[in-house]
Amino acid sequence: METWDAIRARRNVREYADRDIARADLERILEAGRRAPSSRNWQPWHFVVVTSRERLVELAKVWEGASHVASSNATVALVAAEPDDDLHREWVQYDFGQATATMMLVAADLGIGSGHAAVRDQRLARQVLGLPDGYECVYLIALGYPAGRRLEPVRKPDRRPFDEVVRWERW
Ligand SMILES: Cc1cc2nc3c(=O)[nH]c(=O)nc-3n(C[C@H](O)[C@H](O)[C@H](O)COP(=O)(O)O)c2cc1C
Repeated sequence: METWDAIRARRNVREYADRDIARADLERILEAGRRAPSSRNWQPWHFVVVTSRERLVELAKVWEGASHVASSNATVALVAAEPDDDLHREWVQYDFGQATATMMLVAADLGIGSGHAAVRDQRLARQVLGLPDGYECVYLIALGYPAGRRLEPVRKPDRRPFDEVVRWERW
């Protein structure tokens, strides 16, 4: 897919076809995350890839908006060392957002759907993922081929109008 098509085709996919994602495609998605930019290039991320159905079902319980994780083909848990202070907590949020967007675009490029999921129950996430002390799961990215329509550029996205969002030169 062209980059511009992938950008327009990406949307949250929460229902997945019964089709495995090839290991090479998963690795490409993860490599995209690894290459994402980060503040001072500190690269705060660790990616834990979950594919076991049993573990996915448990992971989906970390918050009510994470239920799609249970039926995903694979879910990437974005893991960080607990930040020392507010500054680093801010960096984590921004940098993981960049890694997430990059991974989701590469997934879309491969025709693979992706869906964010926040994590509320850190204790459960830590237990399911086997995280060492001092680490937290920042977000989850559920992956799978869409159950319904394929990914293709969305003609009319549910977004605020361009002219309301964009200002030139000054506010
Ligand atoms: C920071 C962030 C957190 C999100 N958390 C969740 C979530 O916990 N569960 C969920 O189903 N979707 C979640 N979403 C997906 C958004 O609801 C979705 O991106 C938004 O409605 C726009 O839809 P689209 O991604 O299909 O374009 C999250 C998105 C972002 C950027």
